[in-house]
Amino acid sequence: MSALNLRGSKTLAETPPAAPPRVLGAESPRAPIFLRTAKAYREGGTPHLLMVGLRRVIAPLVDAGYLAFFARELDDTLPPPEGASEIAVRWAGPPEIDRLVAGYDGARSAAALRERFRRHDRCIVACDDRGRIAHCRWIATRRANIPEFAMDLVLAPGEAYFYDGYTRRAWRGRGIDVAVRSFIFHRLRADGFHRVYSCVRGDNPIGMKAARRRQRPVQTLWYIGLRGLPPLVIGKRILGHSRFVTGGISQERPAAASAGGN
Ligand SMILES: CC(C)(COP(=O)(O)OP(=O)(O)OC[C@H]1O[C@@H](n2cnc3c(N)ncnc32)[C@H](O)[C@@H]1OP(=O)(O)O)[C@@H](O)C(=O)NCCC(=O)NCCS
Repeated sequence: MSALNLRGSKTLAETPPAAPPRVLGAESPRAPIFLRTAKAYREGGTPHLLMVGLRRVIAPLVDAGYLAFFARELDDTLPPPEGASEIAVRWAGPPEIDRLVAGYDGARSAAALRERFRRHDRCIVACDDRGRIAHCRWIATRRANIPEFAMDLVLAPGEAYFYDGYTRRAWRGRGIDVAVRSFIFHRLRADGFHRVYSCVRGDNPIGMKAARRRQRPVQTLWYIGLRGLPPLVIGKRILGHSRFVTGGISQERPAAASAGGN
């Protein structure tokens, strides 16, 4: 287990439990439009606000946007592990499915998470001192589904891809994402991997910032398509020695439907 240094004055033990898990299929109340507008502006400024507006207008017919891919070399340039106390980062296994569903505030089904284990993807969690899951994230080392493209990323030997990072709301902004990335980098390096990728949707400025802090941008691919049909993917379909191929291992819902609605 590895611990991490959390920023902020409150300790995790003092943190109120995160919001109760959202039940899939249940309607969550939407914030008024002016609050959503203000939030979008706060997170990404005018370009993000325009993009959110445009997506809303065309959303019923067209799905379009871009994914930014990031890489981290797992070599001697890797900074020392980041972490200290109060949170433990560790691997999680299939017996913990129910806890993982709660870790995503109910926005991922047990079946979807079970399928990831079946594909041999690895799961990492960050837990507080009472064992409550504050963050979940996954690593693929063979093949990763990119739902926005209806494609898979076939990973070359020595290359890995991590995805679906989610910090529960009550724990955000305390350095958990940073510590989980650090854990992943060092564990994969110890396992002989030399590069790890991740990706962020263009409409997620906070995810973008978090990725940029610890990885370098390597590739941006745009996609556009009528809903229900395979999209057109624009850009070079290669990432290092890994490549994108048509046809998904499983069609997961795009991470737009981020756990907890972001
Ligand atoms: C993105 C997310 C995982 C970040 O998790 P977190 O544990 O709060 O992140 P951290 O506290 O470790 O911060 C990591 C970096 O992100 C940035 N960041 C985090 N929250 C931010 C905020 N509200 N506003 C601006 N930047 C922010 C900071 O740059 C920070 O790095 P720094 O402190 O070294 O500057 C979290 O906001 C989340 O779960 N969002 C919803 C799901 C999602 O978008 N996942 C990413 C999919 S690619």
